[in-house]
Amino acid sequence: MNKWVRAHTNIALIKYWGKENEDLIIPKNNSLSLTLDAFYTDTSVTFDDALTEDELILDGDKQDARTLSKVQRVLDEVRTLAGLESKARIESINHVPTAAGLASSASGLAALAGAASQAAGLDLSDQELSKLARIGSGSASRSIFGGFAEWIKGHDHDSSYAVPVDDAQWDIGMLFIIVNDAKKDVSSRDGMKRTVETSPFYDGWLNSLDADLSAMKQAVSDRDIEQVGQIAERNALKMHATTLGASPPFTYWTAESMKAMDAVRALRKLGYTAYFTMDAGPNVKIICRQSDLSALKQELSKTFGDEQLIAAKPGPGLHLLN
Ligand code: PMV
Repeated sequence: MNKWVRAHTNIALIKYWGKENEDLIIPKNNSLSLTLDAFYTDTSVTFDDALTEDELILDGDKQDARTLSKVQRVLDEVRTLAGLESKARIESINHVPTAAGLASSASGLAALAGAASQAAGLDLSDQELSKLARIGSGSASRSIFGGFAEWIKGHDHDSSYAVPVDDAQWDIGMLFIIVNDAKKDVSSRDGMKRTVETSPFYDGWLNSLDADLSAMKQAVSDRDIEQVGQIAERNALKMHATTLGASPPFTYWTAESMKAMDAVRALRKLGYTAYFTMDAGPNVKIICRQSDLSALKQELSKTFGDEQLIAAKPGPGLHLLN
């Protein structure tokens, strides 16, 4: 019986945006994230000689070849490491609230790295697991760890992995404002590629990252939520600014995203510590005190539906389920 492995999603406070090496997924910059308890993926892998091809069953549905290709990078690496040739059957369940529209690649690929390596009989260190998750999806490298994690960009497969930074056992949380907009997304993969190749703002983004990262690490170690929020919000705005300079230009923001950002600014005027961050989609995530989560939810329910508001606390790293 193969075991089930669980990985939680993470949200970057210092964003990863752009690859140095597309094939190996080596990033242009270090990034820093917080792993969260609210969203996670459970995965089990079986290597079976009777199978003629790899298959992925996600939430009960068999996935097409395109979805399979991301996970095959990870499977192939596990087969190489373990000297296996058999094909694999992957069963995965995403625990993301219905219609949340949140990308699950971070938790999904991290859970796969854990489940596939254990099914193959490999006993990998966290560092090895982080590298394995990275070749499936960059942000997944950070979901191996609970709390705050930093993905060290490195320069090749062996030097690019995440490390734990702080267990986040203090008064920090995140409130998600889910924007239900049917707008067609530019994937993070395509979005960052286009930005790196064509946006004149990309260099400005890249040049300001060392300062953001060291200020963020200081703020985390000081447990200074105001600083964490301020740095994260500005970092996210800088990242999103690069997309407007791309050719053709694009943005992940919708009118609803702007409304959510305004709502966060309004919370600040009321005296709350509340700052936003956004990723490759229209949803807005609020960095706040964990002890303020209910009050903020109540305040925001004047503007947004209850089903649009999801509170999250710091979550654990990759682990086996019994
Ligand atoms: O690893 P990917 O392809 O899911 O890209 C993640 C990109 C951002 O979410 C925008 C930033 C980040 O660091 O997670």
